[in-house]
Amino acid sequence: MAARLYIPGDSAACSVGADEVAAAIAAEAAARGISLTIVRNGSRGMFFLEPLVEIATPEGRIAYGPVTPADVKGLFDAGFLEGGPHPLGHGLTEEIPYLKNQERLTFARCGVIDPLSLDDFIAHGGYAGLQKALTLAPADVVAEVTASGLRGRGGAGFPTGIKWKTVLDAVSDQKYVCCNADEGDSGTFADRMLMEGDPYALIEGMTIAGMATGATKGFIYIRSEYPDAIRVMKQAIAMAEASGWLGGDIQGSGRSFDLAVRTGAGAYICGEETAMLESLEGRRGTVRPKPPIPALEGLFGKPTVINNVLSFAAVPTILERGAKFYADFGTGRSRGTLPFQLAGNIKRGGLVEKAFGVTLAELVYDFGGGTASGRPARAVQMGGPLGAYLPVSLFTLQQDYETFAENSAMVGHGGLVLFDDSVDMLEQARFAMEFCAIESCGKCTPCRIGSTRGVEVIDRIAAGIDRERNLNVLADLCETMTDGSLCAMGGLTPMPVMSALRHFPEDFEPRQTLDAAE
Ligand SMILES: Cc1cc2nc3c(=O)[nH]c(=O)nc-3n(C[C@H](O)[C@H](O)[C@H](O)COP(=O)(O)O)c2cc1C
Ligand code: SF4
Repeated sequence: MAARLYIPGDSAACSVGADEVAAAIAAEAAARGISLTIVRNGSRGMFFLEPLVEIATPEGRIAYGPVTPADVKGLFDAGFLEGGPHPLGHGLTEEIPYLKNQERLTFARCGVIDPLSLDDFIAHGGYAGLQKALTLAPADVVAEVTASGLRGRGGAGFPTGIKWKTVLDAVSDQKYVCCNADEGDSGTFADRMLMEGDPYALIEGMTIAGMATGATKGFIYIRSEYPDAIRVMKQAIAMAEASGWLGGDIQGSGRSFDLAVRTGAGAYICGEETAMLESLEGRRGTVRPKPPIPALEGLFGKPTVINNVLSFAAVPTILERGAKFYADFGTGRSRGTLPFQLAGNIKRGGLVEKAFGVTLAELVYDFGGGTASGRPARAVQMGGPLGAYLPVSLFTLQQDYETFAENSAMVGHGGLVLFDDSVDMLEQARFAMEFCAIESCGKCTPCRIGSTRGVEVIDRIAAGIDRERNLNVLADLCETMTDGSLCAMGGLTPMPVMSALRHFPEDFEPRQTLDAAE
C-alpha cells in the first residue's frame, strides 16, 4: 500500500516552504520508485515546526519538522515513511506536548483532515451538529447555544445565544447570517487557520445559525489579505451545495440556506460589525450608529446574525455534544475554550486552544517557550492592537473575560503578542495612537482628531516638554476618546496607551536626544 503523508497546504506553512517540501518529497519518491499519497491538510498550529510532515502509521501519525527540501533525501534514507528515527522526528504528533496539552474542540479536525474532503469531514464528526439542529425547533437550537455560555470570539464577548434569540424573535421577510472573517488584530490567525484547515466547520456553524433564526442567506466577509482562505471557502461552499448541504432543501429537510464569500475592503475598521455591513452593501466601511442593532436592522436593513468565525465554528460541537459538555470547560462566566494565538517575539508561536482559566504564564512559557530572542520577557499585548500591555508581574492572570476586564485589559480574539526587555513602551503607546489615526473611519471627532493629537502629546512627553502637563493632557484625551467615541476603535485605543503608562512609567521619562548627550 502507498505510504500516506500529510503536508499542510495552509498559508502559514506554505509561507515557510511547504509547497517546495511537498514537491521535493514527490520527486524523491518518484526517483526511488516509491508510490505515495500526499494529503495537503490544514496546519496543526505548531508554526515553529512548519513545514510539518506527518506519516500515517498503524500507531498514529509520526511528525517530522521543520522540514526543508534539503532534508528530504536524508529523511528517505532514514526510513521516515515507516516512521524511522531522524533528528527532525518528534514521534507521534498527538503526543507532542504543545498539542497534547490543549483542549481542542473548535480545532479538533484542523490539521487532521483533508480540508476539502466532505467524506473526511463527516468521518470525523462533521455535520453531526447540523443534523441534530435539523431535528429541533429553532427556539431549542437557540436555547442550547445560550445554555452553552458561548460568547462572541470576535472581541466583545457578547453572549451568542442572546444575539440569536433577538434575530429569531424579529419578524421579517428576510434575515441574514454574516460571518466576520476580517481578522485584523495583530498576531491573530485563528480564523484563517480554521477556514483553510476545516472550512466545512464554519459552513456548518453558519447553517445552524440560519436554522436557528430563520435566516436563509449568509455571507462570509473575508479580508482581502487572505486569498487562500477565500479560495478554500469558495470551493467548500460549491462542494457543500453540490452535495445537498447548502441551498434549497438541505438534506431533504425542506429548509434552505445559501452562502457566499465577499472579499473585505482592506481596512481594520471593516471588522467593526456595522462598518462590515456598509462594506458588504458596497459602500465605504464607516461605522453606523447603534441603535438600531444589526440583530434587528442589519444587512440591507434586515435582522442579521453577525458572528466571528470562531463563534460559528464552536456551535457544531455544542449541538452535537450538548450545551453542558461545552459549558463544562472554562471558568466563571467564560465558558468553553478559546483558540489562543501566540505571536510576536516568542519561541514556539502557534495556536493553542485551551479552556478559559489558563494563565498568561502557561501560554507564554509552557506553550510558547518564552521569547524567541532568548532575552527576558517584558510585556504581552493581549487582544489585538486595542488591547492592554501587561507586565510580567501580571502573567499570573487567568484568561477569562471578567479577570481581564478587572485589570483594564481584554481577552479579545485571543491574540497574544510577546515582547522582550528591549521593547520601548512609549513607542508602543505612540504606535497605538498612530494606528488609530491611520485606521479611524473619521466619523466621530474624539477618534479622528484625538488620535492625531495623541501622537503629538506623546511626542512632547518623549521630548520632555512640559512633562507633567502633557501627561495630564494625555489622560484627559484618553478619557474623552473612551467616553465620546462612536465605536470601540476610538473607545479602546486608550487601553494600550494607558496600560503602557500605568505599568511601564519609567519608559515615559524624558529622553536624552543624541545631540544633547554629545
Ligand atoms: C475596530 C474594530 C475591529 C473589529 N474587527 C473584528 C474582526 O476583524 N473580526 C471580528 O470577528 N470582530 C471584529 N470586531 C468586533 C465586531 O464589531 C463584532 O463585535 C463581532 O464581529 C461580533 O461577533 P462575535 O459576537 O461572534 O464576536 C471589531 C470591532 C472593532 C471596534
Ligand atoms: S471611533 Fe473612530 S472608527 Fe469608530 S466611528 Fe468614531 S471615527 Fe469611526
